[in-house]
Amino acid sequence: MSTKRGNWNSKLGFILAASGSAIGLGNIVFFSSNAYQYGGGAFYLPYFIALFVLGLPIMMVEFGIGTLTGKSFPLALRELAGKRAEFVGWWSIGSAMFITAYYIAILGWAFGMMVGAFGSLFEPGISAPFTPFETPTDSPSAMVYFFNLLATWWPVLFIFVIWGLNLLILRKGASSIEKAVRIFVPLMWVFMIGLVIRGLTLDGGFDGVMYLFTPDFEGISDASVWRGAFSQMFFSLSLGLGTMTAYASYLPRDADQVNNSMLVSFLNCSFEFIAGIAIFSLLFVFTLNPAGSTLSLSFFVIPQGINELSTIPWITRLFGFLFFFLIVIAGITSSISLIEGPASAMMDKLKITRKKALTIVAIPCAIGSVLCTLPIIIDKGLAGNGTLGLSILDITDHWVFSYSLLIVGLVESLAIGWILGADKLRMALNQHSKWNLGKWFNTLIKFVIPIVLLTVILSSLWNERT
Ligand code: PHE
Repeated sequence: MSTKRGNWNSKLGFILAASGSAIGLGNIVFFSSNAYQYGGGAFYLPYFIALFVLGLPIMMVEFGIGTLTGKSFPLALRELAGKRAEFVGWWSIGSAMFITAYYIAILGWAFGMMVGAFGSLFEPGISAPFTPFETPTDSPSAMVYFFNLLATWWPVLFIFVIWGLNLLILRKGASSIEKAVRIFVPLMWVFMIGLVIRGLTLDGGFDGVMYLFTPDFEGISDASVWRGAFSQMFFSLSLGLGTMTAYASYLPRDADQVNNSMLVSFLNCSFEFIAGIAIFSLLFVFTLNPAGSTLSLSFFVIPQGINELSTIPWITRLFGFLFFFLIVIAGITSSISLIEGPASAMMDKLKITRKKALTIVAIPCAIGSVLCTLPIIIDKGLAGNGTLGLSILDITDHWVFSYSLLIVGLVESLAIGWILGADKLRMALNQHSKWNLGKWFNTLIKFVIPIVLLTVILSSLWNERT
């Protein structure tokens, strides 16, 4: 491996960076909203199937090809599975850039909510007494604040702040990323654990947990629940976007990627469940209504719950601040990896410096982030029904989040399974691992994953008709 590409200073650095990439908006904002939308208990059976059948093996593939070749995703695929496979690598890099644009727009808004904690966003007792599953009759204060914020230019400034932080962290590659994740990743665990303890010690906090965990076998006959769970798993584990391969390429070749995949998936999914428990407990204690878009749960509803947490203003504000600070730092450790994937692919392919590659990635993506949030765009939409800015974001989110990741997963498993040969990758992984992947790994990569993904993609496309 050429040292010019940079290396992690330690195995811990890699684990922190990869789990920091995995843990992000997906775990806090999207997981709880998906789990709610798809009916709590109906969600987690598909979710666990998605973890063991797709998530974990594909992470082994993406980590594996990174260390095996020491290259970023498109070129790693090219080296192992030929020129045509490189194409899917670039497709995934393109998708990563789309996602980066709106991911950072959302982080800009979260930053705005964090700043709101210094004003009157979080005040004890201001909340509408909804019951879950009921349509709101009153506008909660956080919603009003959020829409007021959208109608200003502030989010554009916040987006630049977030972009600035990202580029600062990425400027030296693995070594500067490692410095940041050593602080951010432990911090977000501490805050999340604090939040869950607070949620569960409230009277009635456990009801939310029951809702989240009581199995609902009727819901799982719906194809969209499966697509929801599969896309959630891909996104949450940072798969299908070239990220994990880029990070893995900075590891020495003898890294135990089977073990690392298990560790990172475990950390990610535990965080996701802890976040789900924290959020659902608040939801049920304060009988809040999470109806609405993906963002409404974290941006409008939880702030209402926070306002009920204490009668002492500074404590309420502190909780509000910490919740959005948590979202911002968890988001940044993910967005840096979203940017690193495309940047490292360009450095490898075009043989350009990191600075140039970062510029090429940052300019169009930052324009995209601003477009998602420009007041004139959103204002116009607000006058009509629904927000145009949010809908640019929603459309990209729908197609990229729901389909692109799964398509990349499908093609990469076919390429690695059939062109390189699943057995070759399995041998390479086993060579440095204390675990021994059996022949079932080949069957998963060659048959099970492609068939499952194809079925879900086709049936979801079929459902788009309505
Ligand atoms: N996994 C991140 C999250 O859950 C998002 C992400 C996806 C980051 C893909 C990098 C690559 O928020």
